[in-house]
Amino acid sequence: MQAIHSMKNIRNFSIIAHVDHGKSTLADCFIRSCGALQEREMVAQVLDSMDIERERGITIKAQTATLRYKSEQGGEYELNLIDTPGHADFAYEVSRSLGACEGALVLVDATQGIQAQTVANCYKAVAQGLDIIPVINKIDLPGADIERTTSQIEQIIGLSVENLLCCSAKTGAGTREILEAVVHNFNSPQGDPQAPLQALVIDSWFDAYAGVVVLVRVMAGELRQKAKVRFMEDGIERYANEIGQFTPRATPCDTLTCGQLGYLIGAIKDLSVAKVGDTITTASHSATKALPGFQQVSPQLFASFFPIEADLFVQLKEAFERLRLNDSALTLEYENSVAFGQGVRCGFLGMLHLEIIQERLSREHQVESIITAPSVAHEIELTDGSIVIVKSAAELPSPTRIRRICEPMAEVTILQPEQYVGSVIQLCNAHRGRQLAMEQSGLQAISRWRLPMAELVMGFVGELKSATHGYASFDYEASGFEVADIVRVDILVNGDGVDALSMLVPRGMAERRGRELLIKLKDAIPRQQFKVPLQAVIGGKIIAREDIRALRKNVLAKCYGGDVTRKKKLIERQKRGKKRMRKFGNVDIPQEAFLAVLDMSSGNG
Ligand code: GTP
Repeated sequence: MQAIHSMKNIRNFSIIAHVDHGKSTLADCFIRSCGALQEREMVAQVLDSMDIERERGITIKAQTATLRYKSEQGGEYELNLIDTPGHADFAYEVSRSLGACEGALVLVDATQGIQAQTVANCYKAVAQGLDIIPVINKIDLPGADIERTTSQIEQIIGLSVENLLCCSAKTGAGTREILEAVVHNFNSPQGDPQAPLQALVIDSWFDAYAGVVVLVRVMAGELRQKAKVRFMEDGIERYANEIGQFTPRATPCDTLTCGQLGYLIGAIKDLSVAKVGDTITTASHSATKALPGFQQVSPQLFASFFPIEADLFVQLKEAFERLRLNDSALTLEYENSVAFGQGVRCGFLGMLHLEIIQERLSREHQVESIITAPSVAHEIELTDGSIVIVKSAAELPSPTRIRRICEPMAEVTILQPEQYVGSVIQLCNAHRGRQLAMEQSGLQAISRWRLPMAELVMGFVGELKSATHGYASFDYEASGFEVADIVRVDILVNGDGVDALSMLVPRGMAERRGRELLIKLKDAIPRQQFKVPLQAVIGGKIIAREDIRALRKNVLAKCYGGDVTRKKKLIERQKRGKKRMRKFGNVDIPQEAFLAVLDMSSGNG
């Protein structure tokens, strides 16, 4: 593609919306109507390149496409479109994408109306000073209510509907008008093309063939192929071996000029060199100041992974390190559990992030593992005044050394039809929530809450959906720490502590959570030849107990006589089952028992 040399003819924009409102489909539509790909090359949601993204129909990584567009009113434009993820776990990707744009299309599903993430993402765009065009999508559906959606856009997010557009990303109706509006209503990028290079790192990922690929937005100056560039944060220098744009295929070019969006490949093996938010400048004619960058993302949820067989740890470790190459939000720490041996303690952005990593681990790397119940990080103030961050119950210092425990909090926005307000209040109260605000807008109510992060990962989203028959939507943001009365509950199986099952819970909920866990364990652990007590304890005091009754029959009981093949078969089957089990003292705990614990904590799926 030939470069467009005037900055006036460049438009950088994002599509932001609530999950499933049609961003990726609209992006496909734009790619198609700009003729960037042949019809035979098009697959639905072309920018969702990971298998999991396609299967789950969600966008995980923000993707870009540089398109060439001929306006109906004359003039040829370079459109840099950034597709963004909608799920709250990946909200940080939205902020980054917006950092590279001058405009945003706020897409709203005409059948669903405004949802929590529409509001949250739209506020982010407004805060970053972007031009906004509201677009109502899915107008082809019989349930589309354009009038109601329009008034929600005005009343709930307070956007002017003067330049509102309607479309169907599925049929393509109205999408040409959106491209015209992008060209005529959004500002072109600003910046000094003569100044020293300042390119903002929007994203970076690992490609098996090319090494690290860095997505940049040139804010000042220009980036030339073969130039020696410097990553300003660490001062590391590399040659820009290849630069180019995604059209949406990677297409090399000689220069990325001021205002353009593109990629850089420069023999970089390690993702930590190309940190998101860093500034790239030329080594010879350097910029004196780096760009402001982005807020760092921090993991909210922690879980440990242990290999099914202890000798597979190296394989698990390598798989995680490879996954991390492509996911800077994933944090890894190696640990040793009494029960499981070596494992990896991982930090995730939320439940969905955890599930995706878990799936990629078994799908892309064929590593099966045991996962402990996810927990949040607690801030512990010790009696000597020092502060430690504890990411798993097993790490909790002895109670005599603890002055107080603080837990992470979240600010939650919930949008719900008016008739569900009561159920939402009840649910949030049950999850230790504190209401911050409640507004009514037509038939919709928006409420803001402060909730412990631990509650959000303990099935809150699933419960919200069932309490409101799927009509409520929610968004959250991490919001500091607060003092809480938290205790550590340990689980004993046949008198032996299983450290991986310990959990930190509010004192008032300890008994209930302990009992729930024991009941699940009771179902999941096979009966033994003897009675097995399961106990939940706090500092040696038993708070709940369940017993697994002794087994009366053995698997060969029915096979008397000389039926050797049948016996062998039964024994083989038993062996296969056992392969997946790990031994604790004299009780087998199958992986399902651990998954049952994980299940209790999820519900976000
Ligand atoms: P995330 O990537 O998960 O944030 O979702 P998204 O906003 O990118 O939504 P996506 O494009 O994946 O669309 C969600 C579903 O809505 C898909 O099944 C689309 O086929 C469907 N869809 C999108 N736009 C339209 C439309 O205009 N009309 C109809 N009928 N369906 C649409």
